Amino acid sequence: MSTFNCRTLKRHLYMTALALLLVVTATSAFADHNEKTGKKGILLVAFGTSVPEAQAAFANIDAMVKEKFGNISVFWAYTSHIIRHKLAKQGHPHLSTAEALARMADQGFTTVAVQSLHTIPGEEFHAMQGIAKAFETMPDGFSKVTVGRPLLNTNQDMMNAAKALLASVPAERQSNEAVVFMGHGTPHPANIYYPGMQYYMERLDPLAFVGTVEGTPSLDDVLKELRQANVKKAYLIPLMSVAGDHARNDMAGDEDDSWISVLTKAGITCIPVLQGMAEKEPVVAIWVQHLQTAVDQLQ
Ligand code: CO
Repeated sequence: MSTFNCRTLKRHLYMTALALLLVVTATSAFADHNEKTGKKGILLVAFGTSVPEAQAAFANIDAMVKEKFGNISVFWAYTSHIIRHKLAKQGHPHLSTAEALARMADQGFTTVAVQSLHTIPGEEFHAMQGIAKAFETMPDGFSKVTVGRPLLNTNQDMMNAAKALLASVPAERQSNEAVVFMGHGTPHPANIYYPGMQYYMERLDPLAFVGTVEGTPSLDDVLKELRQANVKKAYLIPLMSVAGDHARNDMAGDEDDSWISVLTKAGITCIPVLQGMAEKEPVVAIWVQHLQTAVDQLQ
């Protein structure tokens, strides 16, 4: 009797241990599986815009990204505090980079490709990159975060962007008419991308000029070039992702110091084109190509 009981108990223990082992094996296999496949996400980060018409440019990028990476969830963040504040007041809240990444981590994403929709690797880009990378080392963060470069990064990007931008100039433009691209400009060393862009533009089109609102080349620099080339008519086009506040006011506004006012006063007929770079598919293709690299690096 006692032998029998003992044997039954042993059998019970054996079966229980086996069952436990199976559960443990199954659980760890499941965990391993989860870690390998993970949940991949894309975060698109723009400076942002408070101009409703300019939002169309971001909608275009969103559509192009979703078409190419259909199986990956896409999130958005705006880096500008001022713009987020303004939009929130109007009832359209937008996330910052950190808020968007925290939300993605909370929703179980394990790897994220963050794509900068900035034009140059300046202040905004570097701040964003720092935040994105911090989420890789944070507890409850991601196992991997990659950051896609802004529009202008390599020499090849510069050539591709110059070609794409010149191809988007209105077809009615005559060969003796100039094209003036208005960039933002910055005190950051990455401002060098604007004179760099002038170099690549000029090689494709001797009457294509690049100026900036807050950096070098300035509007004065551009005006000097236009006078030297005896230009009588110029197309003004934003070298910015969206035709937002700068394009509508600094470039095409009624104020005395807007680009259109200054150039018109100098005897140059101006045709402003209120279209951001994010509305031009061949330009967006460069950002998307950088995102592809970032997604590939998640592997
Ligand atoms: Co600005």
